[in-house]
Amino acid sequence: MSDDPEEGILSWDESVFRDEHVFEIDYVPETFHHRESQMETLKYALRPAVRGSRPLNVIARGPPGTGKTTAVQKLFSELRAQTDVNVARVNCQVDSTRYSVFSRLFEHVFEYEPPASGISFKKLFGQITDRLVEEDEVLAVALDDVNYLFYESEASETLYSLLRAHEAHSGAKIGVICISSDMDLDVIEELDTRVQSVFRPEEVYFNKYGESEIADILAERVERGFHEGAVDTMVLDRVSELTAEQGGDLRVGIDLLRRAGMNAEMRASRTVEAQDVEEAYDKSKYVHLSRHLRGLSDSEQALVEVLAEEGGGRAGDIYEVFAEHTDLGYTRYSEIINKLDQLDIVDAEYVSVDGRGRSRDLTLNYDADAVLERL
Ligand SMILES: Nc1ncnc2c1ncn2[C@@H]1O[C@H](COP(=O)(O)OP(=O)(O)O)[C@@H](O)[C@H]1O
Ligand SMILES: [Mg+2]
Repeated sequence: MSDDPEEGILSWDESVFRDEHVFEIDYVPETFHHRESQMETLKYALRPAVRGSRPLNVIARGPPGTGKTTAVQKLFSELRAQTDVNVARVNCQVDSTRYSVFSRLFEHVFEYEPPASGISFKKLFGQITDRLVEEDEVLAVALDDVNYLFYESEASETLYSLLRAHEAHSGAKIGVICISSDMDLDVIEELDTRVQSVFRPEEVYFNKYGESEIADILAERVERGFHEGAVDTMVLDRVSELTAEQGGDLRVGIDLLRRAGMNAEMRASRTVEAQDVEEAYDKSKYVHLSRHLRGLSDSEQALVEVLAEEGGGRAGDIYEVFAEHTDLGYTRYSEIINKLDQLDIVDAEYVSVDGRGRSRDLTLNYDADAVLERL
């Protein structure tokens, strides 16, 4: 500490950040350590595509924030830059039906959207494969967060169409990388047997990062993102520790760094202190929740809102309140409950109701106010 009271005080045109963009959600890191073996397997599977053959299919699994999307983004951008392989990553959280997945693929292949008036799935599919055959192109498709296709019961149909494309349209070469973040979902078991018999994927597992790996990766982000000396080792270690506590999801750590930096700026400080991290943690620990809520449809969000307001309850009672907001039937309501349960937003547990069989008891897995704030 110096005697100069101005020292350590940030003026308006100064920032603790060198490049705040490196903390944004869509930033693809320049270096990608600790995922070497996963990258090797993915490359091995994709290599045939470079030679003009159909690539091997892959299933990549691992908890959230372990670098699955980043791995595919990095490989796909290499392929785009260096080869003729056509690559398409589809975010199934957004496109969660077979039709919308293929609409997205159409967009990739033709570089314009399919007709808004709507065409049959068969036509959409046919136009994509005809084009691939005509141009003699291999298409590698990544179904990112494929678990969302399972929640909508669209996974088998979608995969079946992709994997059998060469039979329906001779010469079409498509390989599929399925990425799942849902560790409770057994992707292969949950597919129809007719899909299982043609899928036979290579498997890649993205294990949780350990605390020292987290610290290593975040240190690099700090170096790029913050001015020198703004974040010391003790602060970084605390961020890594909190990230490990949140299931090792790097998203939490990156969000923590950014929010802590903003808190430091709010205090007009040139350095990020422990208190800035602790304050930021109250928000950053909810990055999972925010991400899940963003991916829900309007009626799914409406149901979460009812649950938060009612503080949970018997499935039947919650439905009665929910029915005032929508005209969805009980069957669809039950399906939404299943999905929210699979996403771990809600816990739906069967309980016996005195002599009248079983009913489900619904509880939110998050603080109700935190949920309402984010809807
Ligand atoms: N090995 C790594 N090196 C640098 N950044 C990483 C690494 N692994 C993950 N990240 C970062 O962590 C965040 C989450 O990674 P992501 O690939 O989206 O995880 P997943 O798809 O498994 O949920 C992203 O911001 C990404 O840049
Ligand atoms: Mg991802």
